[in-house]
Amino acid sequence: MRIVSGIQPTGDLHLGNLLGAILRWVAMQDEPGERFFFLADLHAITVDSDPDQLRANVREMTAALLASGIDPEKSVLFAHSDVPAHPELAWLLSCTARMGWLNRMTQFKAKSGKHKEKASVGLFTYPVLQAADVMLYGATHVPVGEDQKQHIELARDIADSFNHRTSEEVFVAPAPYIPKGRAARIMSLRDASNKMSKSDPSDMSRINLTDDDDTVRTKIKKARTDPEPLPDTLDGLEGREEARNLVGIMAAIKGRSEEDVLAEFAGQGFGQFKPALGDALVEMLAPIRQRLEEYRANPDKLDAVLDAGAEKARAAAQPRLDHAYKAIGLRR
Ligand code: TYM
Repeated sequence: MRIVSGIQPTGDLHLGNLLGAILRWVAMQDEPGERFFFLADLHAITVDSDPDQLRANVREMTAALLASGIDPEKSVLFAHSDVPAHPELAWLLSCTARMGWLNRMTQFKAKSGKHKEKASVGLFTYPVLQAADVMLYGATHVPVGEDQKQHIELARDIADSFNHRTSEEVFVAPAPYIPKGRAARIMSLRDASNKMSKSDPSDMSRINLTDDDDTVRTKIKKARTDPEPLPDTLDGLEGREEARNLVGIMAAIKGRSEEDVLAEFAGQGFGQFKPALGDALVEMLAPIRQRLEEYRANPDKLDAVLDAGAEKARAAAQPRLDHAYKAIGLRR
């Protein structure tokens, strides 16, 4: 099993990132196989970014991943801009990927908004870089939230078509590995028709790793819900998306099913459920936040982790990149 995944170093980790991806990366560290986790800093520059802020965000996200439990002894942790094989392979793949495939990417449509002509070319083609990110390491499992599924399926198409074009088995087709239940798609606390996201202008819509205990509890208390008590079966949450989201979050952080959570809270209103959820979140997040502060205080250590990770990643990526160049007829 080769597990590969990445995260953009934009600002803070939020609960969606943690439940949809990071805590699963951590859990997969004890399974057999190899793991590569990276900061997708080349993705972060597809939209305007401030150089100093980006540098700071890379360190901050590295600290957050280590604090969440990523262990550099068990996983290769690096920034993909430190491994030139990523953009190199992205070029080879972009000569195989089709415009029509990229045109279907819903994330580009959402991120580019109304003014598509003003979006950077990189924002349009970044799913090709994402394909390179996983294909370079022969990823078999790509643990991601639901929103990345389409990009990983695109990577499968690109891998297949590159192999077909060169008549060689250069790449393994990667498969998305998406959590079951609500963790795959944690929704905004203000409007459950949108996913929880770093780009939501309202900070009340998400729980950030850096929120202190009181803030976490307040955000849950103010989360949008309805006046009905909790039902005893999932059917009773039909059409109550905000309620469903909170029940799903409780289930995900406790490692229980939603039915199980409902069995405990059936008949109770949010006046009782929300404080219990706030407590459960604080219990999960507070120790991570405490470790985050310790890692933050040691930027040299963070740089050393990234340097060592980049060296391992460069060595692991090079053979497949060389194979791709040769298979397509380059490099005598
Ligand atoms: P990014 O940085 O937006 O998100 C990182 C991970 O968090 C998951 N996630 C969520 N899961 C559940 N509910 C949510 N509300 C939620 N919001 C985010 C994402 O699905 C993701 O797993 N393009 C990628 C980064 C990337 C990548 C890759 C991922 C670059 N190369 C190669 C996998 C493989 C991104 O922008 O993720």
